[in-house]
Amino acid sequence: MRKFIIDGVECKVAKATIGLDGFEASELLKKYNKIFIDEGFVNTASCRSKITYIDGDAGVLVHRGYKIEDIVTNKTFMETMYMILNEDFAVNESEQGNFENEFHGVDIDIDGMLKIANIVEKNSHPMSILLAIFSGVTTSASTKKFPSNKEKALYAIKSMLYAVAICICKITGKEFTPDFSKLSYSQLFANMVMSREISGDKSAIECFDKILSLHIDHGQNASTSTMRMICSTGCDLFGGICGAISSLWGVLHGGANEAVLKMIDSIGSVDNVAPFIENVKNKVDGIRLMGFGHRIYKNYDPRAKVLKGYADYVMHDMKLDVESDFRGSVANEIERIALADEYFASRKLFPNVDFYSGIIYSKLGIPANAFTCIFALSRVVGWCSQWMEAVSGENKLQRPDQVYIGEKIRVIKK
Ligand code: CMC
Repeated sequence: MRKFIIDGVECKVAKATIGLDGFEASELLKKYNKIFIDEGFVNTASCRSKITYIDGDAGVLVHRGYKIEDIVTNKTFMETMYMILNEDFAVNESEQGNFENEFHGVDIDIDGMLKIANIVEKNSHPMSILLAIFSGVTTSASTKKFPSNKEKALYAIKSMLYAVAICICKITGKEFTPDFSKLSYSQLFANMVMSREISGDKSAIECFDKILSLHIDHGQNASTSTMRMICSTGCDLFGGICGAISSLWGVLHGGANEAVLKMIDSIGSVDNVAPFIENVKNKVDGIRLMGFGHRIYKNYDPRAKVLKGYADYVMHDMKLDVESDFRGSVANEIERIALADEYFASRKLFPNVDFYSGIIYSKLGIPANAFTCIFALSRVVGWCSQWMEAVSGENKLQRPDQVYIGEKIRVIKK
């Protein structure tokens, strides 16, 4: 551990392998008797992690040392899942095969999930249905003895796969037929949720599989931090995931993919894009360009770059739903105008992962209000990996302080 002297105070430095080192701020409390206030945690690291590294200025995303572009080009989602949950990719096909067999062998509580899905209102928001179903998973999991954290994680991930499938079938009215065959995560999901035409289209499923890999983890984002905070109290993984689902739901986080599609539909045509962007710049009714901007990326989000290629592919090469083709043109026009505009350039606002994902999901037949469930379908792997990392070290209760700005001590008038 290196040390640094700030104004005569010896401050420990947490050394990063790449990126910014961190000051251990607690040292400074003793000397100055003042706390740091950092609303929105713009300059606060909550933990040390080995899973994901992001260089926001350069637009680089790395998992376990591998760049995201390298991962999606060369590995499947299940291979990436192995790598995120472990320290590296499986050394050979047999190790990967054993992992996939282990995954397929996990015995989850489908009946419990279906019971909950049957009693919730069909018109409820899909994320609320997912939350209800996953709350049920916390009950079934609480009665189980898991031999290891990895087995617990696999139970959570497999439960999420079927929970999201049940949830989407519930809102679309498609009969839910569980598929327990030994297919890939994305193929199983497609078979349970998508039309035969799409689930039978190898290129479409390969594209979907890669989209899942793009969403698998993203460092200490809001939902992961929520999950880590919940679990720092000693709460179990499953309770933490319920909190993470809620956090993901918000439009500034995973809910943005649904908001992007609503925005594109409300714009309606390429001709309406320019006046809409003017309204965003003038902050009319506080509107924002959904799918643009990021707390960490001050450059093009590398995930959005890859997704744009897939969006072009599903829009032009897959003749699935010609009615919604205007969305791709509107999205391209938004990007063209925004990237050339001083307002967005000066604030370093670029397309993020949610900008193109919704267009693709809609082509795959996923209803817009269920897009965020697809985010959860993938991000659950990151949540589990981050949880395994958190509980493997010394636990410190995550408990931020505040600068109190309320009334001074006063006496109740009698
Ligand atoms: N449209 C218009 N203006 C924006 C936008 C946007 N999407 N994002 C930021 N700004 C402006 C903001 O108004 C402010 O302007 P000013 O300096 O004039 O006050 C400036 O840029 C800085 O904004 P901020 O709110 O301080 O930045 P932040 O780091 O707190 O916000 C963000 C990050 C993602 C919440 C924000 O960019 C946003 O609201 N984007 C739209 C929602 C979205 O797409 N979210 C998905 C994020 S990626 C998926 C994920 O990881 O969950």
